[in-house]
Amino acid sequence: MLAASEIGDGAVLDLGIGSGLVAEAVLQALPDAQLFGIDFSNAMLDLARERLSPFGSRVLLRSHDLSDPDAIDLPPLRYKAAFSIQTMHHLSDTEKAAAFAWTAAVIDPGGLVVVIDRVKVDQPLFQDWAVVWRGVDSKTPRTYANHVEELTQAGDRPALLQDQLAWMTAAGLDACCLHLYGNRAVLVGRKPR
Ligand SMILES: C[S@@+](CC[C@H](N)C(=O)[O-])C[C@H]1O[C@@H](n2cnc3c(N)ncnc32)[C@H](O)[C@@H]1O
Repeated sequence: MLAASEIGDGAVLDLGIGSGLVAEAVLQALPDAQLFGIDFSNAMLDLARERLSPFGSRVLLRSHDLSDPDAIDLPPLRYKAAFSIQTMHHLSDTEKAAAFAWTAAVIDPGGLVVVIDRVKVDQPLFQDWAVVWRGVDSKTPRTYANHVEELTQAGDRPALLQDQLAWMTAAGLDACCLHLYGNRAVLVGRKPR
C-alpha cells in the first residue's frame, strides 16, 4: 500500500517503531522516502538505530510517548503516510482516539494511515466469532472472560474494531478494515484531499 501511494521523497511516520523491523522493510520499498520513528522505549530506539543505520539521514528517531501526541516534536517534513504496527493497543481508548486525531492532522491531504493491531470482540458476539475462528485456531478461547484475559495480558488494551474505525473517522479520515484475521486487523485511513 505504501509503495503504491506516491510517497516519493516525502516522509512516513512510524508510531511505535520498536526495533525498526517494519521500518526497514518500508525504507527498502520506498527508496526516496524519509522516515520519522517514535517510541517511548530508549532500548527499542537503540535497536532501531542500529538496524536502520544503513539508511543514514533518511531516518529520524525520537523518544516520545504516544499517549501525549501534542508534545511530539515533529520534524518539519512532508508526511505522506503514517503507520503503527502492534502499538495502539498499549494506549487507553481516549489516548488511541487522540493519537488518531494527531496523526490525521499532521499528514498531508491524500495521506495514508495504516494500523495493524489487535482487536477485541464484543461480548454479545463473542460465541459467533469463536465458532468461526475455532475452525482455524484450535486455541481459540472458550469463554469471553478467557478472550479478554488473553487480550489484556501485560496491561494491553485492544479496542473493538468498530471503535477504532470510529476514532479514525472522527479524526477526519476515510477509514475501513481491509483485512481481519482472528483478533488482528489491518485498518486503513485516507485523509481527504
Ligand atoms: C509490540 S511492539 C511493536 C514494534 C514495531 N511496531 C513492530 O511491529 O515490530 C510495540 C512498541 O510500542 C512501543 N510503545 C508502547 N506504548 C507506547 C507509547 N505510549 N508511546 C510510544 N511508544 C510506545 C513499545 O515500546 C514497543 O516498541
